[in-house]
Amino acid sequence: MHTPTQLQEFIDQAIQNIIYPAQPERLYLPISYIMSLGGKRIRPALVLMSADLFAADVHQVMPAALAIETFHNFTLIHDDIMDNAPLRRGKATVHEKWGVNNAILSGDVMMVEANKHLAMLDAAVLKDALETFNSTAQGVCEGQQLDMEFESRDQVSIPEYINMIRLKTAVLLGGAMKLGAQVARATKSQAEQLYAFGENLGIAFQLQDDILDVYGDPEKFGKQVGGDIIANKKTLLLLKLKELTNPADEDLLEDLMTYTNLAQKIEKMRMLYDKYNIRELAMAEMSAYADQAFQALSELEVSEDRKSELDLLAKALMNREY
Ligand code: IPE
Ligand code: IPE
Ligand code: MG
Ligand code: MG
Ligand code: MG
Repeated sequence: MHTPTQLQEFIDQAIQNIIYPAQPERLYLPISYIMSLGGKRIRPALVLMSADLFAADVHQVMPAALAIETFHNFTLIHDDIMDNAPLRRGKATVHEKWGVNNAILSGDVMMVEANKHLAMLDAAVLKDALETFNSTAQGVCEGQQLDMEFESRDQVSIPEYINMIRLKTAVLLGGAMKLGAQVARATKSQAEQLYAFGENLGIAFQLQDDILDVYGDPEKFGKQVGGDIIANKKTLLLLKLKELTNPADEDLLEDLMTYTNLAQKIEKMRMLYDKYNIRELAMAEMSAYADQAFQALSELEVSEDRKSELDLLAKALMNREY
């Protein structure tokens, strides 16, 4: 069994050891750039921790962890184009630095790189791993499509929103857990239970991301605070607010959607959120999904010691600042 710090070191080392082709430079530099900016690296940690529950050899699982983290970083490059985001991990986004077309293509080739990592897995687990990886990646694309469509749609229900974040974010955390279990040759039902843990954790994780987008400390968040407000993202915060506003605030909210003074738009939206205690409501929803994740984990029959590390990681994620 490994401590989370050890696993994190293994992951960092393995990422540093990846060699990308040198040419064309503008295709591959953005990959090294985004991958070396770090981030929390929770998805590869989930892959390894899941496999560690079954005492798998961490180094045999590493290709799966690298595939997942490479895929995640690819989605970030394309997500930042779609969200028109200037900042990622405290630095300029790839499309800001290299242009949109370059960012698209570097992202595309990262998907190939992710597949190359996956192909390093033992042949005995490869078929299952590919199936999990592919359905995960497909889910993310579906979620991202819905996220964009919701921007310009007036009516989005809370179940529709939850389904959207399940797809764009949670299936990847679930997929990371499932992949780790499959590579460690866990049973089908163990893999599914770990998927359920990851998926519920992922929903809580995205709710937290949406809260931080409004309330994060710009010094720590690493992304543009208020980005979701600028883009009229239908986050849980906005949907709850729409449910609760009085007629006057409803008019204000309607006007805010078309404000061109962005600083003012963010400030006024935050005031509305505060007035209706939206942050607390969103946090309660987040906790409910985190609880479902903990429930799924508690039902899994493996050593309590190993499970407690996952439990701790999940709790830390619910209190993060970036
Ligand atoms: C960002 O993911 C995208 C979301 C699903 C919210 P992370 O918050 O895990 O980003 P990094 O990898 O730590 O930068
Ligand atoms: C993340 O949604 C989903 C994916 C990257 C697939 P966000 O758009 O909220 O993520 P951030 O806030 O830009 O990291
Ligand atoms: Mg984004
Ligand atoms: Mg997005
Ligand atoms: Mg976000």
